[in-house]
Amino acid sequence: MSTHKKTPRHFLDLDKLDTGTLRGILDIGTGFKNGDAVAPLADKTLALLFEKPSTRTRVSFEVGMQQLGGRVVVLEGESSQIGRGESISDTARVLSRYVDAIMIRTGDPAKLTELAEYATVPVINGLTDDSHPCQLMADIMTFEEHSGPIAGRTVAWSGDGNNMAVSWIHAAVRFGFALRLACPEKLNPPAGVLKWAAAEGGDVTLTSDAAAAVAGADCVVTDTWVSMGDSDADERRNLLSPYQVNEDLMKLAAPDALFMHCLPAHRGEEATDAVIDGPHSVVWDEAENRLHAQKGILAWCMGD
Ligand code: CP
Ligand code: NVA
Repeated sequence: MSTHKKTPRHFLDLDKLDTGTLRGILDIGTGFKNGDAVAPLADKTLALLFEKPSTRTRVSFEVGMQQLGGRVVVLEGESSQIGRGESISDTARVLSRYVDAIMIRTGDPAKLTELAEYATVPVINGLTDDSHPCQLMADIMTFEEHSGPIAGRTVAWSGDGNNMAVSWIHAAVRFGFALRLACPEKLNPPAGVLKWAAAEGGDVTLTSDAAAAVAGADCVVTDTWVSMGDSDADERRNLLSPYQVNEDLMKLAAPDALFMHCLPAHRGEEATDAVIDGPHSVVWDEAENRLHAQKGILAWCMGD
C-alpha cells in the first residue's frame, strides 16, 4: 500500500462540507434506498472504532457495508491497544495500512481531528461530544421523505444544547432551513457554533422558551437530557424539565409537524410515550435512514 498522504474524503462535520456535496451524498443514499442494486464497495473494509456505546451506529454501518459489498472490522477502545495508551496518530497510520476507511465514535473531538490528520484513508465521525453529523444526514432524509424540501422550513429544538443540537445548527446553515433552539441558559449550544451560523447567514435563533420555539414549527426535535459521559444527571433533569416534548407542546407546532429524536430515548424525560408513539413521530424512519444515508456517506468516501 502507498505510504504517501493522499487527500481522503473525510466526513467529519457538516460545516466542513458544502451544500452540493451533502446533497450529493443524500442522493446516493436515496438511490440505494430506492433499489440501486450495485456493490460499489466490493473488497473494501471499514474499521469501526468505538470508545462509547452504540446500537444504531454500529449495526447500520455494519449492515450498510455488507449491502455495498464490503466488510467491517470492529474495534472497541478498551479491548484494543488504544485502551492501553497507543496514540491516535499511530493507530491512524497502522489502520490505514489495513482498511479503506475508519469510522470513530469517541468523546473527545480532538481524537477525531487527530485521526483524520494522520490517516491516509477517509475518516467518518460517528459521534463525538461535539457533534453527530451522520445522524443529521438521516434526519434530513427523513424530513424530506415526509414533508418535502426542508429549505425554507422551520425546525424547533427543545432541550439540551448538546452534540445533536450542534449538528442541527450546521444542518440549518447547509440545508437552508430556520432553526429555533430552546435551551436552558446553562445548557445553551456553544457560542462559537452560533457565531459561525450567523456569519454564514444562517437563520438560527436561541431562546429559553420552548413554547415560543415550537410555535408553528414544521418539525420538533429533542434528545436525551443526559448524554453519554455527562455526570451532572440530577442538575440536568431539573434544568431541562420545562423542555419536555409532550402532547401540549406538540399542539403548538404546525398541524402536520414531525417529531424527531435520534434515539436512544429516555421515555418520560425528554419526550413522553404519547409523542414518541404518536401520530407526529417519525423516529423509526429516522433510525432506518441511518442505514441509507450512511451508505451514501460510505460510497462517497470510498467510491471512485
Ligand atoms: N442515534 C445513535 O447514534 O444511536 P446509537 O448510540 O445507538 O448509535
Ligand atoms: N446526545 C446523545 C446522542 C446519542 C446518539 C449522546 O451523546 O449520548
